[in-house]
Amino acid sequence: MTPDLKVKLGSVELNNPIMTASGCCGYGEELAQAFPLSRLGALVTKSITREPRLGHPSPRTVEAASGMLNAIGLANVGLDCFISDKVPFLEKQDTTIVVNVAGSSIGDYVEVCARLNDVPRVDMIEVNISCPNVKEGGIEIGTDPTMTEKTIAEVRRVFSRPIIAKLTPNVTDISVVARAAEAGGADILSLINTLVGTSIDFNTWRPRLTNNRGGLSGPAIKPVALAAVDRVYQSTNLPLIGIGGIASAMDVVEFMLVGATAVQIGTSLFKDPQGPVNIVRDLKEYLKQRNLSSVTKLIGQVRKY
Ligand SMILES: Cc1cc2nc3c(=O)[nH]c(=O)nc-3n(C[C@H](O)[C@H](O)[C@H](O)COP(=O)(O)O)c2cc1C
Repeated sequence: MTPDLKVKLGSVELNNPIMTASGCCGYGEELAQAFPLSRLGALVTKSITREPRLGHPSPRTVEAASGMLNAIGLANVGLDCFISDKVPFLEKQDTTIVVNVAGSSIGDYVEVCARLNDVPRVDMIEVNISCPNVKEGGIEIGTDPTMTEKTIAEVRRVFSRPIIAKLTPNVTDISVVARAAEAGGADILSLINTLVGTSIDFNTWRPRLTNNRGGLSGPAIKPVALAAVDRVYQSTNLPLIGIGGIASAMDVVEFMLVGATAVQIGTSLFKDPQGPVNIVRDLKEYLKQRNLSSVTKLIGQVRKY
């Protein structure tokens, strides 16, 4: 028996539950040199903004225990260049394409999403209301349930295909913001974005990031992410995408057991760009060994005390 790895996110069926996480493989061109992108359930692009952004000056990444801190500052080519230079490559890829969108105001998000609605190859958008590394937009929206609902509702008016709302863990109760995104019309929730952190050089007495603070990612945040998925699974009816420190098929299983339908791989791509291919292989083997006919049989099946 070959286990079925297909999963459904809203109206979109993925070949398998393994997606890339935004900001960890640009627009897919370099990753395509590591393996055919058709092996992924979906590719998620770097956050796209209305105008191009250079982001913060270097150093903007630094290692942390079991992870890394980044303060990239949403460096990206901007919407026009994305459509003219990056979409032609993405159009040729035989996988689901998710474009991650960011902005400094609700108007920015609406403008970008309205333009992307006219690009048929954009299968879904992921609305980044959770970036900790910019002054306006991002986390400012994602920590406020009212702003979250409003932003998603406005985007909903202009984008007709599935919308993923990407949530921040930098709140007291993530389920409150999750329900606000659902009320705004999100089809799917992805969680978590990075946790605010900093790193100080004891020799120079300076922060190791020019932005002073950054976002923590990698294995260090996996327990936080698992708890967040578990909590949100109990409080909304939307399909969830688990993100945070995932580096193996066993990590994927853990996230699916607490309620994720799919997962995204971020920081571990920097260490092992082939990782997603091995994870798909190992996940299939795990299911085979347990006589499970479909990966969906894992979703929400954690045996709680
Ligand atoms: C270098 C870097 C850049 C990132 N850029 C973005 C981004 O542009 N948009 C976004 O929504 N998330 C971004 N993220 C967050 C990741 O998509 C992901 O939510 C987070 O890193 C947790 O997953 P991980 O532990 O597997 O990396 C970035 C993360 C890293 C490490």
